[in-house]
Amino acid sequence: MTGEASTRVVHLVHETVSVVVDVSGGVPSIVHWGAPLSGSDAATLTAMTARPLTHGSLDLVPPLQIVPQHSLGVLARPGLQGHRPGGRDWAPRFSECDVRATGRSVTTVSHDRIAKLRLETHLELTESGALRASATVTNEGDTRFLLDALTVALPVPSSARDLTTYSGRWSRESTTHRQTIDHGAWTTENRTGRTSHEYPPTLWWSTVDAREWGGEVWGCHLAWSGNHSLLAEVMPDGRRYAQLGELLMPGEVCLDPGASYATPVVVGAYTSGGFTLASWVMHEHVRTAARDTAASPRTRKVLLNTWEATYFDHDTEQLKALADAAADVGIERFVLDDGWFGARRNDRAGLGDWVVSREVYPQGLAPLIAHVRSRGMDFGIWVEPEMVNRDSDLVRAHPEWVLHSPDYEPVMARHQLLLDLTNEAAFSHIYGQLDALLRDHDIAFVKWDMNRPLIHASAADGTAGAHRQTLAFYRLLDVLRAAHPRVEFESCASGGGRIDHSVLSRTVRAWTSDCNDPLERQRIQRGVGMWVPNEMLGMHVGARVSHTTGRSQSIEMRAITAMFGWMGVECDPRKLDDHERTVLRTAIALHKQHRELLHGGLTVRFDLDDDTALAHGVMSHDASEALLSYMQMTTSPWLVAPRWRINGLDPERTYTVAHLPLGRLGGIGHTLPDWMNSPLRCTGRELAVVGLQPPSMWPESGMLVHLAS
Ligand code: DGJ
Repeated sequence: MTGEASTRVVHLVHETVSVVVDVSGGVPSIVHWGAPLSGSDAATLTAMTARPLTHGSLDLVPPLQIVPQHSLGVLARPGLQGHRPGGRDWAPRFSECDVRATGRSVTTVSHDRIAKLRLETHLELTESGALRASATVTNEGDTRFLLDALTVALPVPSSARDLTTYSGRWSRESTTHRQTIDHGAWTTENRTGRTSHEYPPTLWWSTVDAREWGGEVWGCHLAWSGNHSLLAEVMPDGRRYAQLGELLMPGEVCLDPGASYATPVVVGAYTSGGFTLASWVMHEHVRTAARDTAASPRTRKVLLNTWEATYFDHDTEQLKALADAAADVGIERFVLDDGWFGARRNDRAGLGDWVVSREVYPQGLAPLIAHVRSRGMDFGIWVEPEMVNRDSDLVRAHPEWVLHSPDYEPVMARHQLLLDLTNEAAFSHIYGQLDALLRDHDIAFVKWDMNRPLIHASAADGTAGAHRQTLAFYRLLDVLRAAHPRVEFESCASGGGRIDHSVLSRTVRAWTSDCNDPLERQRIQRGVGMWVPNEMLGMHVGARVSHTTGRSQSIEMRAITAMFGWMGVECDPRKLDDHERTVLRTAIALHKQHRELLHGGLTVRFDLDDDTALAHGVMSHDASEALLSYMQMTTSPWLVAPRWRINGLDPERTYTVAHLPLGRLGGIGHTLPDWMNSPLRCTGRELAVVGLQPPSMWPESGMLVHLAS
C-alpha cells in the first residue's frame, strides 16, 4: 500500500486498485486505473501502454492528462479554460512539474511561465481504495485571469463500454439509465445552483457484462453542492474518460494576481467485482469524510417529521398529541417542520424571520419541547436559512440582502428568493438568529431545507453568484456546527436536491425525496444508494395514500421500504388503523434491533431474473449476518418467481436463513416455500449458486429475510 515512485512514474497501490500515474508531462496522466498491479514495475507499464504515432495525426501522441491541455493537441475537452483581458493566455501549456509522492498520494506543481499560471494537482488513494482527484490554478501574472472552467478528467480503458447515469425531478430523484457508448459524448450541465434533483453528480463506466456482483466498474462522483458539468466521452482515437467539475457562469471566477481557484474533489471508485462492490468504495469515502468532520452520530434515532401530518397547521396541544402517538409506536425524535416562525402561516411569508411565532406558540416552543422530552424523545426543527420571502421583516428591512440580478425582476419559485450569504451583514444576521434559536432551545437536530434553485442569481456586485453562495452556505453550516457540535444537521432541498459527498461531510443525513410512495422510493433509494450509504438517507413511512402520487400501498410495503435507511415516519400515527399501527410499531422495533447492522454494514443489491421484483439488504462486514428485503414491485410474468441468488456471503459458512414476519404477507400461493415455514441451514455458496425460492407474492408486497451464521 505504498506509492512507488520511479523517475517519472508513480504507482499508487491499494489491495483492490492500482493507479499508475505518468508525471513526465507538466500535468499527470493516468496510465492505468483499475485492477491491482502490485509488484509491477510502473515504468514497464508505461512502456507497455505507449501509443504509436499514426498517419493523419499530430507528430506527437497528445497525452490525456487529468487536466487535458488543448495546447498539446488532445481532442478531449480542455480541463483549464480561461483567458486574460484581451483574450490572451487562453490555452496554457504546463510542461514540467515538481512531483511529491508520499504513501498513496501524489501532488504535482507546474507552471506556464508564458501564461503566468501555476497548476497544482493532487491524486490520492484512500484507505478504502477511493481515488480523490483535484486541481488548483493560481494566477501568477499581474492582470486578472478570467476562469471559465477547471475540471478533472479520469481516463478509463476501452473495455469500459457501458455508461450508467442518473436523471431526476422533484419527487422522482436518481432515476438510473444505462447505455453502451462507443462514440461521441454524454454530458449534463447543472445550472440549478444546488446539487439538484435533475443532474445527480455521479456516473459509472463499466464493462458491458457488469452486474451487481461481477464485472469491472469505474465510478466518478463530484463532491460539490453547486453548479456542475459532467462529461463522459469516447474520443475519435478510442480513448475514454469522464470529466467532472464545477460549471462556472460567465465571469463568475476572476482570479486577481495571486488568487487561486480549487476544484471540488472528484471521487473515483474502481472495482472488478460489480456495482455493489463499487458502491462500497463510495460509501466508505463519505462515511470517512463524515467521521473526520464529526458528523456521525452514534445512534441514528427513528424520527417523526411533522410535515405531512400537519403542514402549516401548528397548534401546541395537537402537536403534543401527535408526539404522544409518535412515542407510542417507538419514535425517538420529534421534528417540527415548516411553519413555527415569523409570519409563516403558509408558504408566502415569513422566510428569513427565524423567531418563534407568538401567534401560534404564545408560550414559545419550550412547552412543546418539554412535552416531547417527557415522552423520551429528543426534538428537531426545520429551517431554510438561505431563503427569504418578500413578505418578511428581513426583506422589508434589507431588500439589498436579496441575491438577484440588479434591475431585473427575479424569477420566483415557491414565492421565495435567496438571501445573499456573501453579504457579511446578511450572513451575520442569519447566523445570529440560528445561533440564538439553538442556544435558547433544547434542539438535537436541524432539518436544513433549500426549496428553490439559484436562477439568474447575482451577488451584490452584479456578477454571477452561485459559486460564492455555495461556499458561503458551507461556511454558515460549518460555523453553526462548530458552535453547536452536538446538534445534528440534515440536508434537504425539496427532498433530494442536495445530496453529495461534500454536504454529507457536514450533515448526518439527507432527505432522500419528498415522495414517500414505496413503489417510487424503492427505485429512488436504489439509485442514490449507489453513492450514499443507507444510514445517511432519510427513509420514512408515509400515509396510506401517498401525498405525492395519490397511490396507496400496504403498511408492510411502506415499512419494509423505510426500514433499511435512517428510518422515520412522515404521517400522523393517530390516523393509522390498528393493523397499521401494530405493523409500524413492530417494524420500528425490528429496525432498532438490527440498527447496528443496518447503519454500519455493507449494502448488498441483487440481480434478479425477474425484472418485476427488487432485492437488496445489508450484510455485516465479516459476512456473518445479513438482513435482506425482497419486493414484488408489479405482477410477475410467472406464477412462481425465479430463484433469488444471494451473492456476497461467505461461501464456506453455514447460515440460518429465516423469514422475518411483518404483518401480512400478500401472496397468491396456497403454500409457502419450505424455508419460510422453518428456518433453513445452508451455505453461502448454496445461496449464491442455487438461490432461494421466493414465495408467490402480490404486486406491491415484500418480505424480510434474516441470515445469521
Ligand atoms: C420541502 C421538504 O422536502 C419537505 O419535507 C418539507 O420540509 C417542506 N419543504 C417544508 O416547506
